[in-house]
Amino acid sequence: MIIQKHIEELRRDYSGEPLDESIVERDPLLQFGKWMEDAVRAEVPEPHAMALATVSSDGNPSVRMVLLRGFDQSGFVFYTNYNSRKGKELIDKPVAGGSLFWHELDRQVRIEGKVEKTSSEESDAYFARRPRKSKIAAWASNQSNEIKGRAELDRLFKEFEERFPGEEVPRPGNWGGFRIKPTIYEFWQGRPNRLHDRILYTSGNSSKWEISRLAP
Ligand SMILES: Cc1cc2nc3c(=O)[nH]c(=O)nc-3n(C[C@H](O)[C@H](O)[C@H](O)COP(=O)(O)O)c2cc1C
Repeated sequence: MIIQKHIEELRRDYSGEPLDESIVERDPLLQFGKWMEDAVRAEVPEPHAMALATVSSDGNPSVRMVLLRGFDQSGFVFYTNYNSRKGKELIDKPVAGGSLFWHELDRQVRIEGKVEKTSSEESDAYFARRPRKSKIAAWASNQSNEIKGRAELDRLFKEFEERFPGEEVPRPGNWGGFRIKPTIYEFWQGRPNRLHDRILYTSGNSSKWEISRLAP
């Protein structure tokens, strides 16, 4: 049982710098920006990778990774297929949770909020910047639907390469962005002896952020 042994032996202590209510930014977006910069500087692999939780209309949760493609006052943006499982769930129930983990810094950030689609202009602009093969793949993949086998995917990819021979590959209508508008942020800093720092920001319906500390 090598895995069980590994799990039992891997009792890592966390040793991050303190995170204190008195020093954090009043605006969680600024705090997030600082931490993202730290993660980039620390060369965390894929610092923009975020676990995205959605919920179906009958209350079943699901989670998967996406890549955060932007964040600012308007929210946190990622791109996907609107007909995928997550796409349908977000259209049915426009709320989501996100979690980013930066192992090298012993840090986690969680966000929660309402979700909306990005404008078609915004999705077009982002799609246009993607490499040609990624654009073709967006056409070829009916994301989250069952396919007969790998050969079908490869065939569809070829078909769309032939359909769009030049650089100009239009954005498929069912592909685009979602924007999470956080009303909750939590910054988690791993600390020794499992006495981690957790700073919570909540805004409710106002634009003013309340800051509190949670037990680890
Ligand atoms: C690191 C990482 C980043 C990913 N980024 C995206 C992304 O930005 N958009 C996306 O649609 N899928 C992305 N995926 C794939 C998703 O995790 C998932 O397999 C896919 O979107 C289908 O999810 P769904 O069936 O729940 O809709 C990523 C996977 C990994 C491991």
